Amino acid sequence: MKLSIIGSGGREYAIAQKLLADNPQLELHILPGNAAMEDFAYIHPEITAEDITGVREFCQKEKIDFCVVTPDNPLVLGMVDALEEVGIPCFGPRRAGAMLEGSKSFAKEFMMRHGIPTAKYQHFTDFSAALEYARNSSYPLVIKADGLALGKGVAIPDSFTAAEEVLRDFMLGQKFGESSRQVVIEEYLTGPEISVLSFCDGKTIKPLVSSMDHKRIYDGDKGPNTGGMGVIAPNPVFSTAVAQEFQEKIMLPTLAGLQAEHIDFRGCLYFGLMLTASGLKVIEYNARFGDPETQVVLPLLRGNLLEIFQAVARGELEKVKVESTAQHAACVVMAAAGYPGPVEKGQEITYPPEILPYLVFAGVKRSAAGTLLSNGGRVINVLGYGDSLTAALNKAYENVEKVKFGSCQFRRDIGKRALEIEAGK
Ligand code: AMP
Ligand code: GLY
Repeated sequence: MKLSIIGSGGREYAIAQKLLADNPQLELHILPGNAAMEDFAYIHPEITAEDITGVREFCQKEKIDFCVVTPDNPLVLGMVDALEEVGIPCFGPRRAGAMLEGSKSFAKEFMMRHGIPTAKYQHFTDFSAALEYARNSSYPLVIKADGLALGKGVAIPDSFTAAEEVLRDFMLGQKFGESSRQVVIEEYLTGPEISVLSFCDGKTIKPLVSSMDHKRIYDGDKGPNTGGMGVIAPNPVFSTAVAQEFQEKIMLPTLAGLQAEHIDFRGCLYFGLMLTASGLKVIEYNARFGDPETQVVLPLLRGNLLEIFQAVARGELEKVKVESTAQHAACVVMAAAGYPGPVEKGQEITYPPEILPYLVFAGVKRSAAGTLLSNGGRVINVLGYGDSLTAALNKAYENVEKVKFGSCQFRRDIGKRALEIEAGK
């Protein structure tokens, strides 16, 4: 069977690894992919993840049997619609479903229509109106670009002066182009965050193991937001009681809302949650696997990922089991110095070969001589597993010590907050 995956990061690497672990005979094509994936798949650097025509032509020419569309951009651009039009079955929502991620105002209105708990908000298309609202707000305040912004479209100003600057940058300066011409302004919530990825086929929804991402660049949750600097699973905040609350108040009402609005969502629906003093709230929906959540969640998934993907695409998710092992997993992201700002690329990466099964490569390329070089912000994800969170973290950090590349940076406190929560602190 020939399968294509759209994307090039750690998440796509992890999906490919799990698919191949369950189905070693698969012929995998990753578009565009990254250099480290050449060890187990064909990569196609000439076709970008946003190139709908290019991807469609490739899949037709190569007679691809199934396509996994992972990143937010192609989903929002309608890549799944375009592939299905020519008879290629896909894992990933069509454009209508991807709007849960592609427009914050759409997602908020959806939650309002279906009584799903989330932060109070206002949607602004007009700069002066947004500024006036910010002037009369209490701080901190949360300002979000309405559209996609590489996970960087959320600002949390702590004064009106700072909010004014953000609004100018977003709405007038169009910092994220069209995406930030409109904004959503939200009340600031506090509490631990939980990521729950789920499989959904439009009729049935099944959650995977919960996880905890670490979005800020520095230890102690300081500094700007990033795409994610590390993650652990399962998330100790997600107790049986919280899981119950999630199912009743969030997950099932979301599915019912999708059905009521005739949105046939077939893919991974990601719930970004916060456990506040007044209950569990949705911070965001994503219409795809999270990065780096996928890197810890998939290795804990029992069962055959390809069968699950195909069941989701056919609308037969009800027939397959989605279960996780009782293990714990931890992932530490090694990023290039300067990330999330501009970074130096082309630094040589070295590691002892025996830790390769614990490495997930993201921003990498090969030199002419074949050595692996850094080629982006988030370069390598280093994993550890164990029977406890402590064991998984120890293993991950032991592996981190063995990976070398130039001026890299990583957080030394991944899982620290989760351990405190486990200990009841
Ligand atoms: P998002 O891209 O919507 O997930 O936002 C990125 C991060 O910003 C979240 O993971 C939170 O840490 C933070 N954030 C978003 N919305 C809020 C909110 N209403 N209150 C507090 N923090 C928030
Ligand atoms: N880890 C957060 C995201 O994938 O959006």
